[in-house]
Amino acid sequence: ELCKGVGGLEKVVLREARGTSAEVYLYGAHVTSWKNDHGEELLFVSSKAIFKPPKAIRGGIPICFPQFGGFGNLEQHGFARNRLWSIDENAPPFEGNSCFKAFVDLILMPSEEDSKIWPHSYEFRLRVALTPGGDLILTSRVRNTSADGKPFAFTFAYHTYFSVSDISEVRVEGLETLDYLDNLKDKERFTEQGDALTFESEVDKIYLSTPTKIAIIDHEKKRTFVLRKEGLPDAVVWNPWDKKAKAMADFGDDEYKHMLCVEAAAIEKPITLKPGEEWKGRQELSAVPSSYCSGQLDPQKVL
Ligand code: BG6
Repeated sequence: ELCKGVGGLEKVVLREARGTSAEVYLYGAHVTSWKNDHGEELLFVSSKAIFKPPKAIRGGIPICFPQFGGFGNLEQHGFARNRLWSIDENAPPFEGNSCFKAFVDLILMPSEEDSKIWPHSYEFRLRVALTPGGDLILTSRVRNTSADGKPFAFTFAYHTYFSVSDISEVRVEGLETLDYLDNLKDKERFTEQGDALTFESEVDKIYLSTPTKIAIIDHEKKRTFVLRKEGLPDAVVWNPWDKKAKAMADFGDDEYKHMLCVEAAAIEKPITLKPGEEWKGRQELSAVPSSYCSGQLDPQKVL
């Protein structure tokens, strides 16, 4: 279902039988909503988010492509998040399960303008799918469509903003003992300690070679988000905390308490594609009540 969203921008609404839903804006192919069967919003979107080009929407799931962060010479997080994508009306059926009907394929190809800043031929297809159980699956396929034999390289992230009740009650499992680059310390490399991550100040870290499953446990809400990923070895963890929150025009001063970004990414080793080659990066999100864990907040036991 295609309809008008905030600021008159077009969005696609996906709905599943049990009442779960998701919304994706054509602007940025940006998922801005994912609701469970109680109608509860699972993604954070700032009350001050600006739904107007050229600014990327603050919250939801921005797509960082063809560059994560300010590592290269493009604008921060690349340009895909502030381009208008188109809907592929002839999308192939859902991989392996033709019963899945709630999905949309969005496509981005370089405009003349984009070719000046990033001179490569590509087709980027993003599939946003809501499963009958209410999981949200994002699958990106980037293909090198160049005719002149030129390879290209890019970095990437699904910059997911999870909605949490209170950041000081949140734990992240799956990143213990891993190496990370600290964006707050000139990208210096450190090794994480052995306990689940907790939060009491600003954090901006790129964890390297992470496992395919990460759990974000919201004690107060008794909810666990499980993030599963393929083709995305790294994971960014970001919370701006109070000082940076105040400095951002499109983010409320206290909103940092109610969000956490955990971003499935490919950053340390850029993806290189030769002509005709395709890369696939997939992220699957589920939200499960932590009470299923019978008091032991172990996502292994939930699933
Ligand atoms: C995170 C980066 O992924 O995104 C942070 O690690 C950055 O350094 C944050 O501040 C938000 O970026 P932006 O461009 O959306 O304000």
